Amino acid sequence: MSLLILGIESSCDETGVALVRGGDGAAAPTLLAHALHSQIDMHQAYGGVVPELASRDHIRRVLPLTEAVLADAGRRLADVDVVAYTRGPGLAGALLVGAGVACALGAALDRPVLGVHHLEGHLLSPFLSADPPEFPFVALLVSGGHTQLMRVDGVGRYEILGETIDDAAGEAFDKSAKLMGLGYPGGPALSRLAEQGDAKAFKLPRPLLHSGDLDFSFAGLKTAVLTQAKKLGDELQARKADLAASTQAAIVEVLVKKTLAALQQTGMNRVVVAGGVGANRLLRAQLDAACAARRVRVHYPELHLCTDNGAMIAMAAAMRLQAGRQQANRDYAFDVLPRWPLDAITA
Ligand code: KG4
Ligand code: ZN
Repeated sequence: MSLLILGIESSCDETGVALVRGGDGAAAPTLLAHALHSQIDMHQAYGGVVPELASRDHIRRVLPLTEAVLADAGRRLADVDVVAYTRGPGLAGALLVGAGVACALGAALDRPVLGVHHLEGHLLSPFLSADPPEFPFVALLVSGGHTQLMRVDGVGRYEILGETIDDAAGEAFDKSAKLMGLGYPGGPALSRLAEQGDAKAFKLPRPLLHSGDLDFSFAGLKTAVLTQAKKLGDELQARKADLAASTQAAIVEVLVKKTLAALQQTGMNRVVVAGGVGANRLLRAQLDAACAARRVRVHYPELHLCTDNGAMIAMAAAMRLQAGRQQANRDYAFDVLPRWPLDAITA
């Protein structure tokens, strides 16, 4: 007997809801339906996420999205066995909306609830793809707020091998894009523009490339991009694509080289890339090429599940339940954890 798990994601600027069947028995969990509302248009005018607006919009979206997902899957609310939600990390007010709604639904339906770590959701999201990975693997987690290399031996068995000491890779994309006037979120815009530019046009630093460890640093790169943009002055507009391509090349080179070093250090031959920056085409192309040459398998989430979504939260809940890592419970006195390191959930 498998369970019907409703997953709710509201940690930042996307409201995501999904239904997954699984969490019990041996069969792999399956995604029945998912729906997403992105707040990008709303925050664009401000050049970044406005937390209070994000919270209010999650309130507006979460129940209509839940209804849409249930209708899509041909289920009723009463069919739901477990309600999972993102407990952290993320924006406190935004997290409280998802947690509050999940626990209210749980209490009203007399169903157990389960709080999920957002990064574990990203990490396990490739299990929703047609070609899911097998444990163990090295994971490169690259999102707007996090950049980590991890050794993953199973559900809840995560060892951080290296991480950023300042900005995340997504932040490096977003901040560089912002100072080139590309709007928010800058990652996709910068990478689109980069396709028309020359990646060798500007010499930008590859921070910590030869540090000998698996840590990252992107704050210096952002400063170098700013310096270069200032130097260009009026010429910036005409050279924007070249600067974008050079910036992207610097970020991607560091991510690829450090991932290869992590594979060598662990002796593993499988890597999973997760988080929003995992949608980057240059990163995928370079990692695929480098890994093919080393007979290493690379797994990605499906492109539309790289950025935040409810499916990864429902999936992580299903896999945690299935692995006996966590039990859903009827304690509806929820809390959220805006700062919550991933290794804190490692048993
Ligand atoms: O995982 P995610 O949706 O949210 C967080 O949990 O942070 O990641 C969002 C980040 C943003 O920084 C965004 O600019 C970046 O992922 N991103 C990209 C691309 N698509 C999204 N960065 C580079 N290239 C892309 N194609
Ligand atoms: Zn995320």
